Amino acid sequence: MAINAAVVGATGYTGQELIDILLGHPNVRLTGLYSTTDEPKAISTLVPKFAKRTELVCKKLDIPEVTARSEVVFLALPHTQAMDVVPALLKAGKLVIDLSADYRFKDLRAYEKAYNLKHRDKANISKAVYGLPELYRAKIKTAKLIANPGCYSTCAILALAPIVAAGSVDLDFMIVDAKSGTSGAGKKAVLESLFNEVDEDFRAYKVNNHQHMPEINQELAKLAGEKMEIIFVPHLLPLRRGILETVYLKTNKKLTTEDALALYRKFYKGEPFVRIKDKGFPCIKDVSHTNFCDIGIEVFGKEIVIIAAIDNLLKGASGQAVQNLNIMMDYPEDAGLL
Ligand SMILES: NC(=O)c1ccc[n+]([C@@H]2O[C@H](COP(=O)([O-])OP(=O)(O)OC[C@H]3O[C@@H](n4cnc5c(N)ncnc54)[C@H](OP(=O)(O)O)[C@@H]3O)[C@@H](O)[C@H]2O)c1
Repeated sequence: MAINAAVVGATGYTGQELIDILLGHPNVRLTGLYSTTDEPKAISTLVPKFAKRTELVCKKLDIPEVTARSEVVFLALPHTQAMDVVPALLKAGKLVIDLSADYRFKDLRAYEKAYNLKHRDKANISKAVYGLPELYRAKIKTAKLIANPGCYSTCAILALAPIVAAGSVDLDFMIVDAKSGTSGAGKKAVLESLFNEVDEDFRAYKVNNHQHMPEINQELAKLAGEKMEIIFVPHLLPLRRGILETVYLKTNKKLTTEDALALYRKFYKGEPFVRIKDKGFPCIKDVSHTNFCDIGIEVFGKEIVIIAAIDNLLKGASGQAVQNLNIMMDYPEDAGLL
């Protein structure tokens, strides 16, 4: 059975990816596109790559219209804006998949500290399910509100979940060295993302101070069964898309590379979008424009290196959002994504 879907934030980077996927999705009818535009405009005028693919018009966000035309709403809005829209959508009985950070945190204070603001929809936080299928598939199936994970967070949690859950690592020493392409920051014009600033350069930013760090800590703590804090160092790559994260750990067990690989293969058995490399390490080119997360592992005595790569706009955002829709609707999990 096909479902009517709307994308709010259709002209942004993740919104465009959503349109791309949903136009080719066998079970979805795209019925509404919304942004800040004052006048309705063909999406192909605003985003020319959609010419001859769809005649849909992008309009200014209007909640009664969204609820009249769609059963599921993807929110690809800047964080802090989704929380003003979600209550009305849930009240109207819509399924909501929010790509922003607004409903990812169970600890309100952690959210308010990370994003430096007050939450305006506390009532719905407990209803949100963290949309990482590899950990929460059963809860996603019955959820009405999905808090789609952050891009860095998806990559780090998938890289670490099996070994943290197995209790095989020193929780006091966990370094995540993360690198992202510039589309991770969205399309707004900021000096640091300009071509002349990024090209032929490679730099760290928000060292151990990035908003995805408490989100990663929240999820890993659930797996570890105790509070924990990673060291997280993000870097900006001179690339448009893709994330690669190198994780450094110490093990408290006698573990070989083969043992670690076997642990990961078992944890992710049957997962359609996680690929464990038998040999070597992932690279961005292998996951770019896909919904896959590739993971490679090497154990050196007591030290472990894990490398994971995703496309920030797909497994880190819009691809994962559609994977969540597929689970909620009982569609094949890879529908529209391969
Ligand atoms: N980029 C990534 O790799 C990534 C990964 C994971 C999660 N996310 C999250 O996904 C969300 C979207 O990110 P993005 O990178 O796609 O952002 P973006 O490129 O900056 O796009 C934002 C979109 O929201 C629209 N918008 C802004 N305010 C609006 C309003 N009040 N009403 C209606 N539409 C409004 C913009 O419309 P106009 O074009 O009219 O301004 C634009 O379409 C963010 O919360 C981000 O944190 C992003």
